[in-house]
Amino acid sequence: MLRSLLPTLLFLCMQATLLPEEAALETVEREPALKDVCGGYFEIGTALTYDVLRRDPATCDLIRHHFNSITPQDELKWDSVHIRLGIYAFRKADAILRFARDAGMSRIGHVLIWHQQIPDWVEYRSTGRQCSSRDLLERMQQHIYRVAGKYRGDISHWDVINEAFHDNGNYRNTFWFRIIGPEYLEYAFRYAMEAAPGTKLYYNDFSIIQPGRRAAVIQLVRDLRSKGIRIDGVGMQGHWELNWPSVDELEATLNLFREEGIQVCITEMDISVLPRAWNQPGADLSLNYELKAELDPYAEGLPPEVDEALAKRYGELFRLFRRHADIIDRVTLWGATDACSWRNDWPVNGRSDYPLLFDRNRRPKAAYYAVIEAMTECLDNDDTAGTEPHDDGGNIAEDPVRNTDNEAEAGNKDEGQEDNQTPL
Ligand code: GLA
Repeated sequence: MLRSLLPTLLFLCMQATLLPEEAALETVEREPALKDVCGGYFEIGTALTYDVLRRDPATCDLIRHHFNSITPQDELKWDSVHIRLGIYAFRKADAILRFARDAGMSRIGHVLIWHQQIPDWVEYRSTGRQCSSRDLLERMQQHIYRVAGKYRGDISHWDVINEAFHDNGNYRNTFWFRIIGPEYLEYAFRYAMEAAPGTKLYYNDFSIIQPGRRAAVIQLVRDLRSKGIRIDGVGMQGHWELNWPSVDELEATLNLFREEGIQVCITEMDISVLPRAWNQPGADLSLNYELKAELDPYAEGLPPEVDEALAKRYGELFRLFRRHADIIDRVTLWGATDACSWRNDWPVNGRSDYPLLFDRNRRPKAAYYAVIEAMTECLDNDDTAGTEPHDDGGNIAEDPVRNTDNEAEAGNKDEGQEDNQTPL
């Protein structure tokens, strides 16, 4: 009896002599790393905020152990990085990118042009009048040259544009669209291509399985390519639910992209287990609904059957990704633990959601084990499996025209310090 308990007793004694953080790190390090099981197929990333980086070393250890790619969750968005006309603030983004670089992870830029999380001044002149198309294009160009140019040779992928279409394929009526017209997409990719020649350039959106939106995205890729403007792939935001979208819908979309020669990243993946507060699936940030008890059923904890349903769903999705690994560059989860997820506050503020692979105490959930199983089980007819291991070194090919001024500057600029560009 004592003999059989010995390993457990030994383990408990060792834990007792460790500081809590060391014990947590030891536990994390014993789990199979997601990056090891996904590595031969695609990169596996997570989003990281400056707040988690600064205040939560245990989550940072978990991230270092499991992931090989980092996307700054908010810190490269316009309102973080380009605070006033010509005034840039890179300190927080630099800290996250440094963490990723030191850990040998790839660095993902999110996002250059979007209509959310962008300051009002971008749309207006100092007189209060709305910008002309020429003014706005100049602002766009300066922003992309400055931000994408600064990280050229460092960031491996940029989301150049986020969420430009509706489900029916119409252009989203943003100020970019209203002032410049549909050509704004073309300009953004052209400027990004000039500013960051060695970086993969992506269009990123939610609900890309919707036929209208998907057709619009495919048409965008065709149009850009026919004009010699580089677009390397499409980011499919994975803000999904337990029953939406179906694996079949996703698979049909991946097959269409393959036929078009379009590479894919699954970006922003998280699977809400909560009831829908509205009729429309998707991830439109402008939606917001009032908190009601029936919309927050698991405030006291996740019932085992829902935990299992989530695990089953993650398993099915990672099997799908594995089957299509020939066109999937990367899968990025939107946060590391349930505590960090934006889904707790969208589209209803203050709910308890459980959309990720690690729980609020950073422990692996059933969903984590389902992913490990999906990525390691033997498959019949496994054509794509591990045939083309992706580079997981976190470093992109040396860019021959890399701007050494920008490189020297990285990490040295204080927030709010004036940039050397002339304001308009
Ligand atoms: C969109 C954006 C992300 C993020 C989420 C909410 O999907 O692309 O950057 O803001 O909304 O976290």
